[in-house]
Amino acid sequence: MASFAKPQHLLLAATVAVVLLLVAAADASQRPVHLRLYMHDIIGGPGQTAIHLIRNVGPPHTSLKGAYFGDTVAIDDLVTEGPAADSRAVGRALGTYMLSSQREQVLVVAVTVVLADGPYNGSTFAVAGRVKIFDDTTELAVVSGTGGLRRAAGHLLWRTAEVVSEVYMVLELVVRMSVPATASTAAPVDG
Ligand SMILES: *[C@@H]1O[C@H](CO)[C@@H](O)[C@H](O)[C@H]1NC(C)=O
Repeated sequence: MASFAKPQHLLLAATVAVVLLLVAAADASQRPVHLRLYMHDIIGGPGQTAIHLIRNVGPPHTSLKGAYFGDTVAIDDLVTEGPAADSRAVGRALGTYMLSSQREQVLVVAVTVVLADGPYNGSTFAVAGRVKIFDDTTELAVVSGTGGLRRAAGHLLWRTAEVVSEVYMVLELVVRMSVPATASTAAPVDG
């Protein structure tokens, strides 16, 4: 006996199709912005870009020798296109990182990356989250942005690219974010 699709099955199929179309439309309304950047964090000596704001105030950290709970660093790190120090400068990373766990080897980062090159010159994006100091890679959130990166959302992978010296570290940031497709790439000064 021949079998026919029941009307409710057709309705279900139609609903699924509509939902899939809506999902596709939602994707099309977002523009992906993928960046790979390198942050030069120099916490002493020539070319210093990072300073201890708080050091040795809190109780000693239970698993990081010589460190104290609450140790905090302010940064104004150079951001470049490649990992080398003389690679093209594309921005600055401004903010803080803090030893925010008493027991775990974890930093909490609050950094704004200000881009000074490329299509997003003048735009910024804000990074928040925690970094496990001894993990190869950790994931942080891109929480928003300004200018051409207004309403940016996504994540980034934070990895130590190179330990140049005891005071100089190069961090790699692989950024996967998206902005509303209607956002202008130009950084507006008003309006
Ligand atoms: C980025 O924008 C600033 C301010 O408008 C401008 O002075 C600078 O030349 C631009 N940099 C690049 C590399 O386009």
